[in-house]
Amino acid sequence: MSPERRNQRALVVSPRWGEQARRWLLARGVLDLTLRPGVVQRELHLPVQGDPGPELPPFPCRWESSTFVPFPSRAPRSFHDLAQVPEEYRQWLPRSYDVVGDIVVLRIPPPLAGQASRLGDALLRFVPGARLVAWDHGVAGPERKRRLEIVAGQGSLKTTHVENGLRLEVDLERAYFSPRLASEHARVAGLSRDGERVLDLFSGLAPFSLTLLSRLRHAASVAVDSNPGAIELARENASRARVSERFQAVCADAGEYLAAQAPAAYDRVIANLPHEAYKYAVQVGRVVKVGGQLHAYEIVPRGLRSRFEEALSAPGPEQGSWLLRDRRKVHGYSPREDLLGITLERTR
Ligand SMILES: C[S@@+](CC[C@H](N)C(=O)[O-])C[C@H]1O[C@@H](n2cnc3c(N)ncnc32)[C@H](O)[C@@H]1O
Repeated sequence: MSPERRNQRALVVSPRWGEQARRWLLARGVLDLTLRPGVVQRELHLPVQGDPGPELPPFPCRWESSTFVPFPSRAPRSFHDLAQVPEEYRQWLPRSYDVVGDIVVLRIPPPLAGQASRLGDALLRFVPGARLVAWDHGVAGPERKRRLEIVAGQGSLKTTHVENGLRLEVDLERAYFSPRLASEHARVAGLSRDGERVLDLFSGLAPFSLTLLSRLRHAASVAVDSNPGAIELARENASRARVSERFQAVCADAGEYLAAQAPAAYDRVIANLPHEAYKYAVQVGRVVKVGGQLHAYEIVPRGLRSRFEEALSAPGPEQGSWLLRDRRKVHGYSPREDLLGITLERTR
């Protein structure tokens, strides 16, 4: 059976102008890639969707309505298959993106800046359930808030994200959140024992605490963050996860909070401020019990030692003694740096 034919607007050119015409339509995002171009009386008919704009094509051609046969449908393997960008830009198409709830977050290389809405449209069509696509201009300031520009779709940057079976209300405009830490949130929860008292420093909206509390019924956690927006979301999420009675969210500077704590007050401490946590290493170490564990996250140039470990192994009255349980790459951060995760156990 022949596939159903469709009437569609066409750009008609002589075959010698075919490649130029195809590129011209692609550059404007109006070549209909679902239909097979046709040849009628030695002229090439290219299927067109949408408005190519006021500019006239710089080659001999005419517009008319024509009949096209759809390409046999094959599921696109990546959003690249759906991205209507000119050929010369395809080398820059990003290979990865993050999905937070129904929001797709994408870093766009500078040469593709002018193509952002086309990448957004392709991702909206490719990622199941995507509502909007945001261009990630990186995190900034002490609160590590992500600077995002919406390039396709609609609605707010607030969404519900499910990770490790936990539903989290996330607001990408108000507080830091990265879906790339899901395995770390689960890993720390997996190492924790029931009944522990945990300190989640630089908590953001507290996914470390909440993953742990939702698995261990007698553990308790204090989350500390200086961003009031993050603390509000942490409390909202604790209430949804029904762990509020074992969870405390404190809006404070970590250094001031630590200074007010008794030594050895916690069984487990998480310190996730990757550029700066090392500055707090000695203060953090002081509040961990002997036998307790400390999880630090740090961005480290490849081949260099963790500054957090170095600070704790330097001689000093408050340093204690530490056993390195593990040190691993969580993910690459830049061409020369990795995000490392370190687990230390206090032995004395
Ligand atoms: C990398 S984010 C936290 C991520 C979070 N732990 C997670 O797993 O999603 C770092 C957080 O540290 C907070 N922060 C930065 N400086 C701080 C300080 N001096 N005291 C307390 N919180 C701080 C920021 O507001 C931000 O939410």
